[in-house]
This record gives sequence, structure tokens and C-alpha cells, in this order.
Amino acid sequence: MEIKQVTVIGSGLMGSGIAQVIATAGINVNLFDSFPEALDKGKSGIEKSLARLVKAGRMKSDDLSKVMGRIKFYREMEESLAGSELVIEAVPEIPELKEEVFNSVEKFANPDAILATNTSNIRITEIASKLKTPERLVGMHFFNPPAMMKLVEVIKGEKSSESNFQEVFNFSKKIGKEPIKVCKDTAGFVVNRISAPESLYFILLLENKVDSPEAIDSFARSQALPMGPYELMDYVGIDTVLHSLEYYNKTLSSAYGKTTIPQKMVSEKRLGIKTGEGFYKWKEGKAQVPSASPSTKVELLDVFCLEINEATKLIEEGVASPEDIEKGFSLGMNRPFGPVSVAKGLSNKEVKDKLIQLHEKYGADVFKPAKSIDEGRMKEAMDGRLKAKTEAKAITAEGEQLLNVKRTGKVARIELNNGRNNLLNMKVLDQLNNVIDQLWNDREVFVVVISGNGNLFSAGAELTQFIPDSMEFIEYSRKGERIFRKLSEIPKIVIAEMKGYVLGGGFELSLNCDIRVSHSECVIGFPETTIGLLPGWSGSQKLAKLIGMSRASYLILTGERFTGDLAKEYGIVSRIYSKNELQERTMEFATELSEKVSPIAAALSKKLIYKGSEVPADVGLEMESIAMGTIYGTKDFMEGISAFVQKRKPEYKFQ
Ligand SMILES: NC(=O)c1ccc[n+]([C@@H]2O[C@H](COP(=O)([O-])OP(=O)(O)OC[C@H]3O[C@@H](n4cnc5c(N)ncnc54)[C@H](O)[C@@H]3O)[C@@H](O)[C@H]2O)c1
Repeated sequence: MEIKQVTVIGSGLMGSGIAQVIATAGINVNLFDSFPEALDKGKSGIEKSLARLVKAGRMKSDDLSKVMGRIKFYREMEESLAGSELVIEAVPEIPELKEEVFNSVEKFANPDAILATNTSNIRITEIASKLKTPERLVGMHFFNPPAMMKLVEVIKGEKSSESNFQEVFNFSKKIGKEPIKVCKDTAGFVVNRISAPESLYFILLLENKVDSPEAIDSFARSQALPMGPYELMDYVGIDTVLHSLEYYNKTLSSAYGKTTIPQKMVSEKRLGIKTGEGFYKWKEGKAQVPSASPSTKVELLDVFCLEINEATKLIEEGVASPEDIEKGFSLGMNRPFGPVSVAKGLSNKEVKDKLIQLHEKYGADVFKPAKSIDEGRMKEAMDGRLKAKTEAKAITAEGEQLLNVKRTGKVARIELNNGRNNLLNMKVLDQLNNVIDQLWNDREVFVVVISGNGNLFSAGAELTQFIPDSMEFIEYSRKGERIFRKLSEIPKIVIAEMKGYVLGGGFELSLNCDIRVSHSECVIGFPETTIGLLPGWSGSQKLAKLIGMSRASYLILTGERFTGDLAKEYGIVSRIYSKNELQERTMEFATELSEKVSPIAAALSKKLIYKGSEVPADVGLEMESIAMGTIYGTKDFMEGISAFVQKRKPEYKFQ
């Protein structure tokens, strides 16, 4: 889907910045605000910001008017929504206000429009719970100022549809941002959640009279931070800090509800820069920080350990990958590194001891070591091994990891991961067998994608492994065939994503999948006869069934390699995608199938197609009638029909 027009709701600090970013990327934006003066302020804010970019030589002066020409300003929500494919809400962080806004958006927006919220902290699931179409809503968290900050956190609420999640992710890239995927909804998402214990720590330092704000800020500046933590809180607004603490108290831990200082400051209207006084007095946009020597009572390690601890919890909970946490936190905090790389330079014991010490001193349970740190598995969490275990708990292969398995929504992706050529051998077959068995009973997975790590699918079987005699070779051959056959029997749609080389055993593996997709230049073939072998693991049988005897004999007897394009012409491959977009498009396709096709209907159809072709026609037709009767009694059949009648997306449960 190409997003050609976006509506942004709320033309404040964030909304106007977001509109500017989108228009700069060449996309039309409608900016709506219910307050005319806010709309005027938003417009002049964008003009000033663009003028600054022109002055700094980062934009041509001709482009300024082009960008402004793409932004239309609206005082009526209904008009602003007409024709937009994406709606981004950026009104103040008040749940009731966001609810009211989305109620109207649902009334007036295009029914297919994707809805996004720029909330800083509120769980997407919570906002979506007030919507009639919660699956449409995705989190799209920009950072301030949007024109400068590269990061966008794209958040999947519990009900967000996989396709909208992916669309918002792709769109964020298209407008020049570096998005990260927040796959599980949590208060504060990645950056704000990792910063939360740290904010609490700095407040507790004052509550426990450890040192003065100016001494601690002086320490922070001595460590090359641009701003100390108290100056930063004054800048953000003490009311905003307090709102966040209250929300985290409700959603994450009661430790966030035990402070007194921010409450007192708010009641005294000492909100920071916006009221002229917070921790410091503010004059002409500058904090009047009394000079002080750097505190000796705090250590940088305290802060680092709190960040590592919260990042570990996010990995354990499956919120985001270590790579995305590292990228997100460093981009979001404007730092050269994030908690994952800091953790690599520290020992598990160092981090654990420090966290125990902080917990004992300040009594906040959020400072307690995360489970993996407590159990000495911090490194495992940080380098992604823990993720593989928890994320794919039922589907990860045992032992040496020759397959990568990743779950996204209802789609499981298996990648062969055996050296540069992803060769198939006994160990890979055993692991594939194990993964298929575990996926078999996983009712949360509807579609499986098989591909290779790196640039190719698989260059074939490993020919150098030692197999002592013919009898053993028969068993090896039988074993591969039985394991591959399971792919055509498993009650899921299995897609082969064919790329680079798909030769010999690799081609045989793909032939056992239900659907094959590829790129034009992919190199496919059965070279076996040219090295004195023949296509095993079902190759000699499957290809002829698929494309007919004449073409199959030619390809097997000549050993000729052929392209993805020819494979498409022969009907081996159903879809050709561009090489650069192959994985992205395949995963989108898999996601689409996982959302629209009933998994039971797919499972029974597979049986009828494959088994039906092996039995006499009247037996096959009888099987079909029985399958029809079976499906009639399922809840998913009822769901499919109701969704069709109600013109909504079905929510299949595999029941
Ligand atoms: N300020 C930040 O640093 C920052 C960073 C990331 C995310 N956010 C989030 O972005 C959202 C907006 O924050 P902001 O800082 O831009 O706030 P803001 O107060 O600067 O802007 C909000 C705008 O919404 C408008 N508005 C209020 N009610 C409205 C309604 N019913 N319909 C249309 N417009 C309405 C206001 O007139 C105002 O122009 C919040 O959810 C905030 O948490 C803020």
C-alpha cells in the first residue's frame, strides 16, 4: 500500500514537527487542530524550522515553498481526514482526550485508513480498547524535535494488525526515519521505559538527601552529558515527569508511586521552564544552575546498571530485540552507545552487585536485578540467545543453531544457517525436524516461511559428510524425504522464499513447501545427475507432479540451472519479487495470509490437495465432502462468515 496522504491531529510541538517531516519527504499532509491559534502557531513553527534548515544549507530555498505547499491546515477534523491513508494523533497525553479524538476519527476517516498515535507512554492496547476497530491502531512514537531526531518507535498493540504494524514501519523508513520495532506493548515502550528507573533514581537521590541537584548535574556534565538530569526534568516539565511516574505506578511498579518531591513541586506550580522555576530558576530559556563541584556521591555505573537492568527486562518480555534496543536508546537519547554495548564491557557480577546495592539503599523494587541478571545470563540476553529461547520457546532447534527461528505475530520464519552456502546435512535435518514438530502443535502460528540466512536459500546437500555404505545412504535419503514431507502435512501454510542459489537438496526442500516465491535472477536446479547422483529427498517425484514429465525429465536429465523467471513460467514459483525487497514482501505476504486465511481451512485444503492427488477420484471427492462437514462445525467457519457479512477482518483462532 502506498501512503500518499496523511492527516496529523494536533499541531503542537510534535504534530507540527511530524507534518514537516512527512511533507519534506514529498508526501501531502493535512494538519488539524481544534484551536485556531495553535494551528497558526504550528504553521509559523514549521516555517521557522524550514527557514533554519535553509540557512544552515540543509535545504534549498526553492524547496521551502514546495514543502509548505504540501501541508494544508484545517480547523475541521472531518475535512482534514478526507482521502488520507494514515492518521497520526498528536494531541496532549491525556487518555480521555485521545479517546475522544479517535472516536471522531473512526467516524470520519476512510474505513481502511491506518490509525497511529504518537503517545509517549500510554500502552497502545489501552488507547485501542476504546476504539471500534482496535486492530487499526499502531503506536508511532516520534522524538522531539521530529525534524532532527531519527528515531521512531513503531509499537504493536495487543490487537494491532500485523499489516498495519508493518505499513507504519515501512512508512517511517520512507520518510527518512530509523524505526525500531516494539513487538510487545509496554508502558513507555523502549526509550522511555529504560529511562524510567533512572528518573526515579535521581528523584530518590534528593528524597534521601544524597546530594544537591546542582552537584549531581555538575557531575553529569563532567561526564560529557549535555544536560544534567534535574535541568532536563525542568526542561521537560515537572508535571510531565509526575504524569509519567503516576502512569508507571499504575502499569509497571508501585515503586514509581513513592516519591514526594515532584508532587510538592507541581502543587507549588514549580513546573520548570514553563513556569520560570523548577529545580532551578529559568531566565530567557536558560536554567540558572548554581555553580557546584561535581558530586562524589553518585557514579555513572549506577545509571548504566539501571539502564542495562531495564533493557534486560524488555528482552525477557519480548518487547524488542537487543539490536533494536541498542539502536533505539542511542538514537532516542542522542548517545553514541546504548545499554546493550555497555553491558558487553561489564561482568554479570558487577551489574548484579550494583543493582542489589541500589535496591537495598533506596528500596525501589524496579532496581532489583532482572531474572537473567540474577541467574548470571546477562550476556545471553544481550547477544540475542535468550531471545531465541524465549521467543521461539516451542520452536527453536536444540543444540548448535543451524536454523534461525523467529516468530512475528502468526508467522514463523525459519532460516537455514549453515555456513555461506546453507548446506543441508544430518544435523540440519535433525534440527529442521525438531522445529517442524514443535511448530506442528503451535496454534498461534498460521504461516511458516522457509528461507536461508544471507543471500541464498541453499546450495544443496553437504556431499562431504561420511556415510559408510548404501544401506546408511538409503536411510539418509529416506530421512530427508520424511522430514521434508512433513512440510506438506503440517497444518500451516508453508512458503519457500527462494533466493540466490536453490540447488539440489535446497530445491527439494522448496518443492515440499505449499507456495514458492522468488526473485527473477534466482538460480535453481537439480545438478545431481551431473555428479553421478539423482535428485533424492522427493525431488525425482515431486518435480514431475508439479510441472509435468517432459519439463521435469529435461531439467533432471540435463542438470541445467534455470532462473526464477523460468520457474515462474513453469508454475514452480507463484510470485516474483524484486531481489532487494524479497524478504520484506514475502513476510508481508505471509502476514496477509495469516490474517485472511482460516488456518483450519488451509490445513484441510492442503490434505485434500496432496493426499487427494494420490487416491482415486471418487475417494478424493468423498474426502472433500467429509472435510466440508468437519469445517462446518468449527468456530473459525462461523468467524469467517460473520466477518464477511460484517465487512470486517476475521479473527481466526484455529478452533
Ligand atoms: N513533547 C515531547 O517531547 C513529546 C515527544 C514524543 C511524544 N510526545 C507526545 O506527543 C503528543 C503531543 O505532545 P506535544 O508535546 O506536541 O503537545 P502540545 O501540547 O505541544 O500539542 C498538542 C496539540 O494538540 C492540540 N489539541 C488539543 N486537543 C485537541 C483536539 N481535541 N483535537 C485536535 N487538536 C487538539 C492542541 O491545541 C495542541 O496544539 C503527546 O501524546 C505527547 O506525550 C511528546
